[in-house]
Amino acid sequence: MIPRIAILISGRGSNMVALAESVCSGVLAGCCEIAAVISSRPGVPGLAKAQELGLPIVALDARALGKEAYDAALLLALEQARADVVVLAGYLRIVSPRVVAKYRGRILNIHPADTKLHQGLHGYEWAFANELAATKITVHLVDEGLDTGPVLAQREVDLRGTGILEEVERRGLAVEHRLYPEALKTFLTTNYPNFANGTPSCES
Ligand code: GRF
Repeated sequence: MIPRIAILISGRGSNMVALAESVCSGVLAGCCEIAAVISSRPGVPGLAKAQELGLPIVALDARALGKEAYDAALLLALEQARADVVVLAGYLRIVSPRVVAKYRGRILNIHPADTKLHQGLHGYEWAFANELAATKITVHLVDEGLDTGPVLAQREVDLRGTGILEEVERRGLAVEHRLYPEALKTFLTTNYPNFANGTPSCES
């Protein structure tokens, strides 16, 4: 069976779009199927983008639900999607121990910095404020900690001559959008070696 991935978002969703395009016609074609795009916030731009791409969406409201009910709703959504792998893409929540326990070793995240040097939010602001000549985008497995899981892939972003924060982020995101599909492909082919090498799954 081809691995089914659930993409978890909380906002803009540009990495989710990059992954979806890759499943459709890039390095992820035939490697996995997008079973659901799940948002922790209703009405975010990423959900509209997922809908436009014809992907199944689930909009949860973490603030309204509260921690316990949110975790239960997330686990149910993942179960209903029959997700094998959980892919965080701009997901602004710490994954709870309950969810980590169920999907241990099968939750990936992309972090806009070297996770050994900077954890948590605002990775590009950190690189800009520290006038770094380069930063490292990191794809890692998720454990109970804040960006503490094993690193799967890293790629450097040259920040020389950026001048403004927006340029730092623009260069970083361009790298993220290439690195995440590639790292996910390596993860899937390593962990699901007998995956169905099926046809690319996309709408058009
Ligand atoms: C990205 O910079 C990602 O590395 C970080 O959050 C941001 C999400 O952007 N975890 P998007 O929602 O994928 O556009």
